[in-house]
Amino acid sequence: MTRACTAIAHPNIALVKYWGKRDRPLNLPSTSSVSVTLGGFRTRTTVTWGVAQDGVRIDGRTATGPVADRVRRFLDRVDPKRPPCRVESESDFPVAAGLASSSSAFAALAVAAARVAGLDLDPGALSALARQGSGSACRSIHGGFVHWQRGAAPDGSDSRAVPILPAGAWDLRIVAAVVDAGPKAIGSTEGMERSRLTSPCYPAFVRENERLASWAARCVETRDLLGLVDAMERSTLLMQATMTTAVPPVRYVRPDSLAVVDAVEGLRAQGLTCGWTMDAGPNVKVLCTASEADRVAGILGPLVSAVHVLTPGGPAVVESETALSG
Ligand code: DP6
Repeated sequence: MTRACTAIAHPNIALVKYWGKRDRPLNLPSTSSVSVTLGGFRTRTTVTWGVAQDGVRIDGRTATGPVADRVRRFLDRVDPKRPPCRVESESDFPVAAGLASSSSAFAALAVAAARVAGLDLDPGALSALARQGSGSACRSIHGGFVHWQRGAAPDGSDSRAVPILPAGAWDLRIVAAVVDAGPKAIGSTEGMERSRLTSPCYPAFVRENERLASWAARCVETRDLLGLVDAMERSTLLMQATMTTAVPPVRYVRPDSLAVVDAVEGLRAQGLTCGWTMDAGPNVKVLCTASEADRVAGILGPLVSAVHVLTPGGPAVVESETALSG
């Protein structure tokens, strides 16, 4: 039987960072992390189960090499005895630009592939599955504000994301300031591994970040935006400390990124409740109240190539499914 399923997932932005693994094949993180799933941007992925041969198309192009291998390996985890499958995936935002494209890609793939494989997984099990494609994808299974608990089990069964607050429960905005939408020179998988293995700051990051993740989750529960922004900036700076002291250094920040950081800190000095973060790329994401988002976007717009004002988004969902032949 050939079956197809289409799923949609949104990317997420880490407020407290995942940076470094204690187990590479399973993507088990060194620390817990906290994120917000973004509305507005999405990945739509169709998995067709039971075709003549494996095929992967991403944004209209046939994927080959390591990208296609990573998708095939993921499908093998969903079902080691699977038939050949076709995967077609499209994202409506710049891929590989520090906007967390792998998070929505592997969350959508996990939801669609589990469904066509006939697996009946609850969101926690889907999160643990998505994690094996890309760590950050485990958080995009859920909408709103999310806590990825690092877990302790060697098989990773307890390393999964749990929702803290749904998207509609806290009306914040994320202003994405795009410094450069091109692909990054060093992927996050390599950047975090180099930081873990070579930076003398890495143990300090692990120690502090675990504490920051618990604190940030508490700030989300109590809707304490100033506390959350503080945890977010501290986690970002600790992650960047491991990058800049890695051998050789991992450098994503550009002068234009720092101009955005200066502008955000200037706005905060004027009384706005906002804060900045960056991931494995030069783009800056700003967390702020809904009422202040237009002012933030207006100040940042002239400094960068594009700004997007985004709301917290919903969970990964099945959009449609079809039985194509019997
Ligand atoms: C800086 O989830 O892309 O965005 O598990 O190797 O696929 P892999 O890494 P990935 O790393 C994301 C790193 C980050 C921080 C974060 O999202 O928490």
